Amino acid sequence: MADILITGGAGYIGSHAVKRFLEEGHKVTVIDNLMRGFGEAVDVLTGYGDLTFHQVDLRNANAVRSVFTKAHFDAVLHFGALCLVNESMSAPELYFENNVYGTLNLLKAMKEFSVKNIIFSSTCAVYGESVYLPINEEHPKKPSNPYGESKLMAENIIKWMSQIYGFNYLIFRYFNVCGAAEDGSIGDSKKPSVLLLQNLVRGAMGIEEFELTCPKVDTPDGTPIRDYVDVNDLIDAHYLGFSYLEQGGASNEINLGTGRGSSVEEMIQEVEKAINVTIPRKRGDARKGESARLFASNAKAQQLLNWQPKRDIKKSVECLQKWYVARPNGYSY
Ligand SMILES: NC(=O)c1ccc[n+]([C@@H]2O[C@H](COP(=O)([O-])OP(=O)(O)OC[C@H]3O[C@@H](n4cnc5c(N)ncnc54)[C@H](O)[C@@H]3O)[C@@H](O)[C@H]2O)c1
Repeated sequence: MADILITGGAGYIGSHAVKRFLEEGHKVTVIDNLMRGFGEAVDVLTGYGDLTFHQVDLRNANAVRSVFTKAHFDAVLHFGALCLVNESMSAPELYFENNVYGTLNLLKAMKEFSVKNIIFSSTCAVYGESVYLPINEEHPKKPSNPYGESKLMAENIIKWMSQIYGFNYLIFRYFNVCGAAEDGSIGDSKKPSVLLLQNLVRGAMGIEEFELTCPKVDTPDGTPIRDYVDVNDLIDAHYLGFSYLEQGGASNEINLGTGRGSSVEEMIQEVEKAINVTIPRKRGDARKGESARLFASNAKAQQLLNWQPKRDIKKSVECLQKWYVARPNGYSY
């Protein structure tokens, strides 16, 4: 049994990691300031095992440090960040302060308390507009928005501090994450959500009208092409990554995507087919800072971690339906 610290564990992806590590019998400590996470998620997760929750802001170095005085962590999974591209285009300072300074405080505490292993949630947004496809880890990194830049800065800080202080890291660059827990117990509760599949399923179920917010881009149908990876597959990769680091695997940066690009129009059709409804749509304000085409090469994840995505869009839609049947409006607190 290991002692795991998970930041952002009350948020969408982090809560799935908490559930999985608890189910595997590990002891989990969560840091979340509940700025975008939910107390109700923590309450649900408490039912899965040995969980300690600290409502702490990563920007508060002393508060972060005090969490490290309470346990010795075998690994840190760092999900805690702000991650709305559009918001970062109107308040960039918030993104640099939260995502960069928060990461720095965490690394400083790791150094002080000799915690060696970290898995960092990064993003395909560090690549910016694709120069070639599929995007591998060597692709140029030229973020198109302050969110991507803040994550790239955090990546570089992790790399430098690891080189100097001997941390072992995995930087996971997620592509577009979708889906919910297979038992429908936890899921994405962003209000409003910016995640396409979540919004499509809500639209299809008549919970909320679907708003098309993508800008017109240079693709065959004029809508952006993205790589949609199921959250349960993503968490499988984190579990494999944790074992990899425990066994002394070398630090690395790894894409987590399916390797398949789908346009927004294609995704609308896939969900309509899966649920057998026509999804009414309205035009919302077009988002800023969006790239036209992003999809991953996941060859490195397959080679280093023996990871392969197993769930297709139909499966993600099925889990989302369970989640929204249980909580049509997400968590209530
Ligand atoms: N959702 C995606 O498609 C996607 C894609 C690529 C990368 N990512 C990365 O994955 C991670 C998790 O994303 P998510 O979709 O679960 O987001 P989320 O907003 O649901 O979860 C993030 C959590 O971090 C917490 N948090 C934010 N700033 C904090 C701070 N200063 N102190 C303490 N807690 C803080 C929030 O309260 C929230 O619970 C992020 O790092 C994000 O950059 C997400």
